[in-house]
Amino acid sequence: MRKIRTYQEVSHTTESELLEQVIEQQERLADRLSQVKRLIAIASGKGGVGKSAITANLAVGLAKKGFKVGATDADLNGPSLGRMLNVSGAKLRDSADGVEPAMSPDGVSVMSMELLQNEADAPLKWREPSLGGFIWQSSLETGVLREFLGDVVWGDLDALLIDVPPGTDKIKRLLELLPSLDLMLLVTTPSETTRFVVAKSIRLAQEAMIENIGLVENMESHVCPSCGHASRLFGTGQDLEEDSEETLSLWGRIPFDPRLGASTDQGKSLIRREPDSATALALEDLLERVSKYIKGGQG
Ligand SMILES: Nc1ncnc2c1ncn2[C@@H]1O[C@H](COP(=O)(O)OP(=O)(O)OP(=O)(O)O)[C@@H](O)[C@H]1O
Ligand SMILES: [Mg+2]
Repeated sequence: MRKIRTYQEVSHTTESELLEQVIEQQERLADRLSQVKRLIAIASGKGGVGKSAITANLAVGLAKKGFKVGATDADLNGPSLGRMLNVSGAKLRDSADGVEPAMSPDGVSVMSMELLQNEADAPLKWREPSLGGFIWQSSLETGVLREFLGDVVWGDLDALLIDVPPGTDKIKRLLELLPSLDLMLLVTTPSETTRFVVAKSIRLAQEAMIENIGLVENMESHVCPSCGHASRLFGTGQDLEEDSEETLSLWGRIPFDPRLGASTDQGKSLIRREPDSATALALEDLLERVSKYIKGGQG
């Protein structure tokens, strides 16, 4: 029988009971993830660069190719993956083995904080001591993510995608929780400010010895839907992969296309809607590379 306590209760237990519970959860997590072939994080460090949109499109694309795919929204405070994968409003069921994830219409198993909240526009409120609340919040967030990964009945998966929230601290904590991560896709845009932040995330992933780190440059240009002319959206910057080590390579370069934003935000796939658009073709290339990797190819 699983022993689950609310965080309010956990905060009142003695240190040793808390430690015991964390160790127990960590073991469950390792056990659960042993059934996942490839654990893939989609991160950046920077906000608003397209992490969730890329996670959702990859998840749907992989499921369409016949892979068994799960997707976890590690963004607890601003979840968006549920909407993008069309599972908003789905009811989670508890079973003897844990919580059953929501199933998207495209066949992706999804877990998101959104599915645990009754009102779509309700901000997440953490119950924490008035002093040092921020310290509590980060450890509670890690605890929830550990549960999203370890207490959910993912079953045998070819790939479990994790949509990591903005902030390099979130990447650091994820890497501490999941030292066995197989691939980290770091989403960047060709803006100097974004590159500056993503360079820090690359360092974190390299220091954690993640074997495969792939860069995905999003919104790199805008292709005019009528004339096909491509214009850059940001000033040209130095390529991040150029001065980096062998562990890092460019996995994808995705043009900006308002139709991608509109379709993804409505839970629809651009690849099926506008299969010949430059953005759909670029997503298809990224999908191909990730598929080969899941099948056992090198990153
Ligand atoms: N290449 C693109 N072309 C057009 N729209 C895009 C593209 N990539 C992402 N978008 C859209 O931009 C918006 C922001 O993207 P998204 O929410 O995926 O970013 P994020 O990095 O996950 O943000 P956050 O840091 O807040 O989690 C979304 O509406 C998304 O659909
Ligand atoms: Mg996001």
